[in-house]
Amino acid sequence: MAVSSKPAILGGEPVTKIRIPFTKIILTDDEVHVVNNILKTKIFVCGRYTELLEREFARYVGTKHAIAVSSGTAGLFLSFLAFNITFNSKVVTTPLTFIASASTIIHAGAVPIFVDVLPDGNIDPNNVREVDDFDAICLVHLYGLPVDFDALSEIAKEKNIPIIEDASHAHGAEYKGRKVGSLGDIAVFSLYPSKIIAAGGWGGIITTNDDEIAEKIRLLRAHGELRVLIGAEGAYEYIRLGYNMRLSEVEAAIAYFQLRKLDAFVEARRKIARYLTELLSEIPGIRTPREPPNKKHAFYIYAIQIDPKVIGWSRDRFVEALNAEGISARKGYHIPLHKTQFFRNINDSNINYFARIIRYPDYSSMRLPMAEYLASTTVWLPLYPTMSYTEAELIAKAIRKLVDWGRRRADS
Ligand SMILES: Cc1ncc(COP(=O)(O)O)c(C=O)c1O
Repeated sequence: MAVSSKPAILGGEPVTKIRIPFTKIILTDDEVHVVNNILKTKIFVCGRYTELLEREFARYVGTKHAIAVSSGTAGLFLSFLAFNITFNSKVVTTPLTFIASASTIIHAGAVPIFVDVLPDGNIDPNNVREVDDFDAICLVHLYGLPVDFDALSEIAKEKNIPIIEDASHAHGAEYKGRKVGSLGDIAVFSLYPSKIIAAGGWGGIITTNDDEIAEKIRLLRAHGELRVLIGAEGAYEYIRLGYNMRLSEVEAAIAYFQLRKLDAFVEARRKIARYLTELLSEIPGIRTPREPPNKKHAFYIYAIQIDPKVIGWSRDRFVEALNAEGISARKGYHIPLHKTQFFRNINDSNINYFARIIRYPDYSSMRLPMAEYLASTTVWLPLYPTMSYTEAELIAKAIRKLVDWGRRRADS
């Protein structure tokens, strides 16, 4: 066997000595200049960029309202509250996501009900239909691939319950020609630095067509102060329990200039994703992401599924070996939420003070085979809008090298 084919993790030469990062934040002079200007004007909150971001984001998504908030997590929390999803409510959601999709249900006082997912990682509407009794659906467009919305919407309509879209991964994604974020009753986008567009810190944005809900959220995000509704005369008069979950001007301005590049970012991600798929599709034991004809994938994350028996590597070792080759791959959501320590111990009031008043299901005995299978076989590959074809080729080369080695080792 040629020395060069020996995996770097076993002492061979890496495919690239210049590490390919997992992601890259793309900032231009626009963001630098606007931050400078804000520092000069010293208007740090409630300025024109928050308004501009909200107006343009609503226009982009195609909703009546967009409301900037301090994070995606805050946005989800406020969305549940706005729909009165609180004590005694149950929310169906996916276990294959970031904790915030489910922890915010708990913050609101409600109970998450996890259902299993489809092979593409998104919530399976058939499993949602089997749940007896629930009050809302919180869906996640995982990695930027829109969920099967029509089937979920049918269930929600039958039950007369709201759909909350967690669109944190899916800025610019589309379902049947409609932008994600305009599908459900309300949607939340994260603007965390790693996301498709970022706010330069924490940030989030909520979209909805519902005037009443939008007004409630504006109140909730700003202390429940009457000022939100009637201006200065309403200062220091409070009409409901509220929070301080607004976005700062610096973050809003950065997010606004990122929004102007969103279509270009998504197109660049899609182009590289297509190329990666072309390069990887012939490699045995590697399953590349699919894009059905009625969905536009935003490719926040390019996730592949590996078959450890075919490639001759366990998933965790394969990820380590890719990193040794200079490719910053990750194992992603490798523990489905119901299997995390928090959910297994959720009824312990020392780790969840809501357990003093709420009894949660026994998540530790829950079996969700597809989510568990995906969590144990997924590999997240690097992807960012400025990735070159050469970098994509290096990623594919490293994967091919490891798979060839693993298969030969299995044969010998
Ligand atoms: C699916 C999902 N939901 C919610 C969030 C929370 O967003 P944030 O980090 O802006 O609070 C994130 C991301 O970080 C996420 O990936």
